Amino acid sequence: MFPQAHNFTIPYGQFLNIQGDQINNYGDSQRTDRPADYFQVMTDCPTSTPNFTGREDILVTIDNFFHPPPPDNPRKTQKIFLLYGLGGAGKTQVALEFTRRFKQRFTKIYYIAADSEISIKASLFDIAMVNGVVGAQNWQSGLRWLHTHEESWMIIMDNADNPKISLNDYFPTCDHGNIIITSRNAELQNVVSQSLQLQDMIPDDGIKLLLKHAADRPLSFNEQEQAVKIAKELYHFPLALVQAGAYIKQQKCLMTYLTYLNNERKQILEKKLPQPPDKYKLSIYATWNISWKQLSGRSKTLLEICSYLHYHYVEYII
Ligand SMILES: Nc1ncnc2c1ncn2[C@@H]1O[C@H](COP(=O)(O)OP(=O)(O)OP(=O)(O)O)[C@@H](O)[C@H]1O
Ligand SMILES: [Mg+2]
Repeated sequence: MFPQAHNFTIPYGQFLNIQGDQINNYGDSQRTDRPADYFQVMTDCPTSTPNFTGREDILVTIDNFFHPPPPDNPRKTQKIFLLYGLGGAGKTQVALEFTRRFKQRFTKIYYIAADSEISIKASLFDIAMVNGVVGAQNWQSGLRWLHTHEESWMIIMDNADNPKISLNDYFPTCDHGNIIITSRNAELQNVVSQSLQLQDMIPDDGIKLLLKHAADRPLSFNEQEQAVKIAKELYHFPLALVQAGAYIKQQKCLMTYLTYLNNERKQILEKKLPQPPDKYKLSIYATWNISWKQLSGRSKTLLEICSYLHYHYVEYII
C-alpha cells in the first residue's frame, strides 16, 4: 500500500509492519531504550545469610570508612571501597552484612550485579525506574538521577570481576554517594580510595561457621576437637567450611569427614590439571566433589541445568 514507506513513526499508533519496516507504536516522547535483561526492582538489596559469622574487624574498617564527615570538616567526597579476594572468601556476604547493619545511615541502598555491562546498565535503568524518573529512557537516566540527588545513597557493585569492564564509566561523577565494590580483581585498587583483601577467617570464627552448618545438637569434647581439625584443614575459608558443614550434617559424618577430605584432595592432585589448584581452591573443589558424588543422577542433572542460569535471581521455587 505504501511501497516507499520507511523510517517514520505514527504517534500513538498501533504496532505495524509495512513492507518489512518496523514502525514504533509509541510517540517520540514515550520512546524508551530499555536495556536488555532489565526487570523491575532488580536493584533491591538482598540480605546477608542468617548464618553470617565473624568478620567484625572488617566490618569496623568499612564502618569507619563510610562514617559521615565530622561537623568541623564537612567537605564531601564520593566514597568508594573495594573488597577483593578469592572466590568464596565472603566478599559479597560482608558487603551485604555491612548494609544490613548500617542501613539507617544511607538514604537508599542499591544492589548491582556488576559481572556484566548488560547487568550494570539494566540496574542503572532500574534505579531511574524505582525513583520514578519521568521519561526515563535509558541506563544513563539512572546515572543522572544518582548525580543530581545529593543524598547519601549506597551502591553495592557486586562481583565486578571482569577486568575488561571499565567500571568508572558507570560511577556517577559527583561528590556525593557511597559505593562498595566486591571483586576477585585486585587491580581495581587503582580506581578506589580504600580497599581491603578478604582472606581466611580467624580460626574461632571459622570453627563457629563450620559448626553452624555441621551440627544440630550439642557436641562431645571429641567431636568438638574434630571440628577444630576440619576447620584448620580447610584453612578457615568460608565457602569450603559451608560446603563441608552441610555435608557433615546431612551425612552425620563429623568423625570420618577428614578421611573423605584427604582422599578427595589426593584424587584431585593426581589428575594432572593444567594448573595445580592452590590450597584454597583445592579445599573448595574437594568439599564440593564429596557432596557431588553423593547426589543422584537426577539431582546432578538439575544442578547442571541451574549452572546455565544466572547465579542471582534464581527463583526459590526451582
Ligand atoms: N561471614 C560469613 N558468614 C557466614 N557465611 C559466609 C560468610 N562468608 C561467606 N559465607 C558463605 O560462603 C559463601 C560464599 O560467600 P560469598 O558469595 O560472599 O563469596 P565471594 O567472595 O563473594 O565469592 P565470589 O568471588 O565467587 O563472588 C556464601 O554463600 C556463604 O554461604
Ligand atoms: Mg561475590
